Amino acid sequence: MNQRFILYFSVLLLAAGINACKTQSPTTSGTSVTQSQGVYQYRDEDPTVKPFFSDRVGVTGRNGMVASAHPEASQVGLSILQAGGNAVDAAVAVQFALAVVYPGAGNIGGGGFMVYRDNAGKAYTLDYREKAPGKASQNMYLDSAGNVRQGLSTSGHLASGVPGSVDGMAEAHKRFGKLTWAQVVQPAVDLAAKGFALTERDALGLNRIKTDLNTINPGKSYFLKSTVPTDTITWHKGDLFVQADLAKTMQRIQSQGRAGFYEGETARLLAEEMVRGNGLITEEDLKNYHSAWREPIQAKYKEYNVITMPPTSSGGVALLQMMRFTEPYPLRRWGWNRDSTVQVMIEAERRVYADRAKFLGDPDFVKVPVSQLISPDYLKSRWTDFSWAKATDSRNVKGGSIPGYESLETTHFSVVDKDGNAVSITTTLNGGYGSRVVVGGAGFFMNNEMDDFSVKPGVPNMFGLIGNQANAIAPNKRMLSSMTPTILEKNGKLFMVVGTPGGSTIITSVYQTILNVIEHGMTMQQAVNALKFHHQWLPDKTIFENGAFSDATIQALQNRSYVLEKLTNTLGRMDCVLIRPDGSYEGASDPRADNTARGY
Ligand code: DON
Repeated sequence: MNQRFILYFSVLLLAAGINACKTQSPTTSGTSVTQSQGVYQYRDEDPTVKPFFSDRVGVTGRNGMVASAHPEASQVGLSILQAGGNAVDAAVAVQFALAVVYPGAGNIGGGGFMVYRDNAGKAYTLDYREKAPGKASQNMYLDSAGNVRQGLSTSGHLASGVPGSVDGMAEAHKRFGKLTWAQVVQPAVDLAAKGFALTERDALGLNRIKTDLNTINPGKSYFLKSTVPTDTITWHKGDLFVQADLAKTMQRIQSQGRAGFYEGETARLLAEEMVRGNGLITEEDLKNYHSAWREPIQAKYKEYNVITMPPTSSGGVALLQMMRFTEPYPLRRWGWNRDSTVQVMIEAERRVYADRAKFLGDPDFVKVPVSQLISPDYLKSRWTDFSWAKATDSRNVKGGSIPGYESLETTHFSVVDKDGNAVSITTTLNGGYGSRVVVGGAGFFMNNEMDDFSVKPGVPNMFGLIGNQANAIAPNKRMLSSMTPTILEKNGKLFMVVGTPGGSTIITSVYQTILNVIEHGMTMQQAVNALKFHHQWLPDKTIFENGAFSDATIQALQNRSYVLEKLTNTLGRMDCVLIRPDGSYEGASDPRADNTARGY
């Protein structure tokens, strides 16, 4: 297995490790949620197969719902909703709270995407993805022989793009917020200044990165306990985690808005940090950073309207390609993860990731043929070599051909308010704790998002993804993403808010979770609990969570030359909300980590 691919799965493992405690308070007990659309019953000839990671049940509410990766952050979101804030107010507060309580992925030193649908049905997307610094260049991670210099795009100062999160939140709040900016930033200030009790996973995550932290940030004091030499600290569950420098940064953001991060003291500290570690980001880069409102991708799947993220994410295009490839097949009749169901899904995924590598990149720099890529005729042409008898060989699959077109650690949260406004946000530093650079005096982690560029054509990134010219590095360009924050409407009404971290596996996890509900009749929580699999064209194999496939499915797929690899870890950290037929909300959070839904 490719080394960087292995690294990716350790990132996932780490992501699982950075958050703990089972604070979910189920509103019903037992193994099923009472829901008028019914509860999915797994049917298979093998009674030992259990398709769910756990029996967690969803949280019910009628007035508001927040599902996020950390109980403290979900609680912040809920409090904002209860104080009269709308979904955007709550989302901004959750983004900032996660930057404090979930430093492995929550961030102000990273970026993300927001999909927003207001209760009148109008949809918006905000791209607050990081950008390459002005001094970045296409071959910046190659040596003189043209080989990739390992580690430079993933760790340390050179790995960071110009952060977008604070500008994104300021933009979202300016346009849609109801409460004041000071009100929505306050919970993060409090959590940083007064501290919060670490969960077991929080402690585990911090202990795991100790060596890196000290190597990359020698002699720096970033947490309150830094009166003790940092390499001697072992964090424990329940420790009060205070971040004094971060509290001051959050206060500057609170009092000055965008300028509290992109100008003045914070910008100066960040630029100084870059100089200290030979990074590229300058005060000029920070001042020039702006997030972008983009037209959402909206497309039909049966009676559903899928509202999702356009490029700079590949997620929306890829999700719709997959959904449309398999739309003609009777997945429900075949059954969940039966061999035929899985086979068509894998073949869809294979072709979609090949297209991703060829066509997708920052739309401000390259022309991405979005409507062609999701058009039924194009998809039909991509399916002609599908055969039931045998797996298609990925070596024979290239990106499709579009006439006139020349080739060239993350976290998700979902919020719905009492009026039915819905926010779906995925935000990231890329790997767990990003580049592991803590900005001296400002107390936050910087991203290692530059690795999401194709640092060299055909060379896999940390997620095993390869890319090409469309996603080559250029100054001020945004790196391609797989993040797939998505909202679904059913018959014109809000139906589902969905998303997850997981690098390249984000798109396939979102795809399966949606199908689990709308094709297999699962509740939202069951769909999240359900075990998952993933194929991404290259490497040519299907990875799956232990238990995702019955022996019969495994046998049938292997007979058709599919290479299957059982994971020892897990896929997805979904946080979703479903609107039930009676109008109530089902909040579903991933039982694979500390993810928590809170509703009222
Ligand atoms: O934008 C992307 O596609 C990646 N930077 C996401 C990274 C991620 O999901 C890591 N978390 N597990």
